[in-house]
Amino acid sequence: MGVSLKWGNVMKLTIENLTKTFGEFVAVNNINIVVETGKLLVLLGPSGCGKTTTLRCIAGFERPNTGRITIGDKVVTDPQNGINLPPEKRGLGMVFQSYAIWPHLTVFDNVAYGLKMRKWPRSKIKKRVEEMLELTGLQGLGSRPAPMLSGGQMQRVALARNLAYRPDVLLLDEPLSNLDSKLRERLRFELREIQLRVGITAVYVTHDQSEAVSLADKIILMKDGLIEQQGTAEEIFNKPKSAYVADFIGSANLVPAVVKGEEGNSYLLETPEKVQVKAKKNDSAFNKGQRVKLVMRPENIYLSKEKHDGWSVNSWQGDVIVPNYLGTQTRYVISLNQRRLFVTMLGSSQAFQANEKVYVNIPPEEIQVLEE
Ligand SMILES: Nc1ncnc2c1ncn2[C@@H]1O[C@H](COP(=O)(O)OP(=O)(O)OP(=O)(O)O)[C@@H](O)[C@H]1O
Ligand SMILES: [Mg+2]
Repeated sequence: MGVSLKWGNVMKLTIENLTKTFGEFVAVNNINIVVETGKLLVLLGPSGCGKTTTLRCIAGFERPNTGRITIGDKVVTDPQNGINLPPEKRGLGMVFQSYAIWPHLTVFDNVAYGLKMRKWPRSKIKKRVEEMLELTGLQGLGSRPAPMLSGGQMQRVALARNLAYRPDVLLLDEPLSNLDSKLRERLRFELREIQLRVGITAVYVTHDQSEAVSLADKIILMKDGLIEQQGTAEEIFNKPKSAYVADFIGSANLVPAVVKGEEGNSYLLETPEKVQVKAKKNDSAFNKGQRVKLVMRPENIYLSKEKHDGWSVNSWQGDVIVPNYLGTQTRYVISLNQRRLFVTMLGSSQAFQANEKVYVNIPPEEIQVLEE
């Protein structure tokens, strides 16, 4: 990482009771969001859940029905009190999926654009643009015409242009989704590095859970205009509140089961396929006879050829249906009394073949019990 570029005007973003309807349709349903100073918040969720609408309300491109939006101590939206600042008065930077750069200008002039509009003196512009080109890895490309850039470079220009005037908050809407997967992954880390280096408060919209997990200080998972769960990536991964969350983040196995009893701080459960499962109790309480869903992460299940002495519980015999070798890991589809389970084993060698008998092991503390 180069020299620190932390700027002083980093702001907290607060959204209170935001609702946006289109006709009868409620796209965003009374949500509350706080993004702490210098943090990166990811709005995550499936297509149509209201991510872009929320971002456009923050940016000032949509007028919400209700909702107060505050950047630092400046109220930018408050329809009850007739406040709705235009986008250019909100002090925001914005990067979208489409490469919003000027095709008739060079890289340098694209990055300088906002500074010229703000009537900065030429020498100050030059210094800032060079700083931004260095920050975004575009050194030496200043005189290149914008159309002669790759997709990844164009998004770097868009980012540099939107950071040049040091906005208070940076908004990003699926900025990497037009790029190929390898570049997307690399730029994801670069983006995070840049955000940390300048210390800017940011809101990042994506429907890609792996992007969300690798970028976010905090994730808000949305569903039908509502917040389903919010927390750190780790909290959402390890303590999903609902089957919807568990299913959206990662590719969890969701196994139906019935509570048969309790033993110490564990539940004893049974699946419809008569597999006996022990799972550690969590925050919610379940009664005997209650139907629940068990979350088993493919990464937390361990396959072995022999039954291990140490595995006294949750060690079942199953069959390998499909091994899917991926180089750094192998994903298996396993059948346990006809119940299909996905299992991920890390490492570059494939341990099991199709039709092989295996033991399927998972510790009780790695199983989450959720309401059905
Ligand atoms: N201008 C509009 N007029 C009518 N309906 C709209 C308008 N803009 C958005 N919507 C609807 O509001 C809902 C939320 O849209 P939004 O663009 O916020 O979704 P999103 O979460 O960003 O989805 P995606 O991942 O597909 O971009 C959708 O059902 C969409 O059709
Ligand atoms: Mg969208």
